[in-house]
Amino acid sequence: METILKVENLEKSYEDTQVLNDINFEVVEGEFIAIMGQSGSGKSTLLYSISGMDRPTSGNVLICGKDIAKLDDVKMSAVRLEQVGFVFQHSYLLKNLSIRDNIVLPGFKLGKLSREQVNKNADALMIKTGIDSIAGNDIKKVSGGQLQRAAICRALINQPDILFGDEPTGALNSSTSRGVLDIINDINLDGTTVIIVTHDVKVAARADRVIFLMDGNIHDKLTLGKYDGDEEKTSYREKTLYEWLEKKGF
Ligand SMILES: Nc1ncnc2c1ncn2[C@@H]1O[C@H](COP(=O)(O)OP(=O)(O)O)[C@@H](O)[C@H]1O
Ligand SMILES: [Mg+2]
Repeated sequence: METILKVENLEKSYEDTQVLNDINFEVVEGEFIAIMGQSGSGKSTLLYSISGMDRPTSGNVLICGKDIAKLDDVKMSAVRLEQVGFVFQHSYLLKNLSIRDNIVLPGFKLGKLSREQVNKNADALMIKTGIDSIAGNDIKKVSGGQLQRAAICRALINQPDILFGDEPTGALNSSTSRGVLDIINDINLDGTTVIIVTHDVKVAARADRVIFLMDGNIHDKLTLGKYDGDEEKTSYREKTLYEWLEKKGF
């Protein structure tokens, strides 16, 4: 399997405070990575620094072999539009547009496919995530779980190399969260590389590997292997992860 993301000697400082120190890791195409750590350990900063949302202070971030760390604003926004997808804790959909219009917008903006093809792709994504029946709805009239599903569709409309998430289930109740998590797992099983920040053991236990941050350093990594939905194995994974985290005082 090919390396899809390579992070080398990444550092990030805000004025005189160093938030990330010499971060090094690689992600292979098709992996699902969870990033965990105490609040303030640098998880969001790391995610933004490796996804083209923000620039590291130093170091390299290679996505499909191309270093995105030092790109200018125009090239960086092209990376965000074309190469990566992003889901946050809140969906940040545009309030005056329907669900469908929110999803197709980045596709039209990129302009690589015809409007018809973008619409077709949006339909397929909405069917896959179970929101096709509310495609025309005003976003003020849909639930939090549906909004998050729509945000996932929007993030995937340009078929990104990597889907990033910063606590994508953090604002959802546990059953809604599970549905969104199943979708993220499906997307990963279809081949999209997934990297998400989470504090939730149930979410991280679905990942192939867990990276634990402490004070801006990679403190430890845990390999769980590919998730297959088997209930017995799921509880074993959760228990393994829980015990691993407990030793770190998490
Ligand atoms: N824009 C910023 N300016 C200054 N300090 C920041 C900024 N963003 C994050 N930090 C600091 O960086 C550290 C890590 O923050 P963050 O990455 O948000 O942690 P986490 O996501 O793990 O909770 C915190 O101490 C935070 O105060
Ligand atoms: Mg954070």
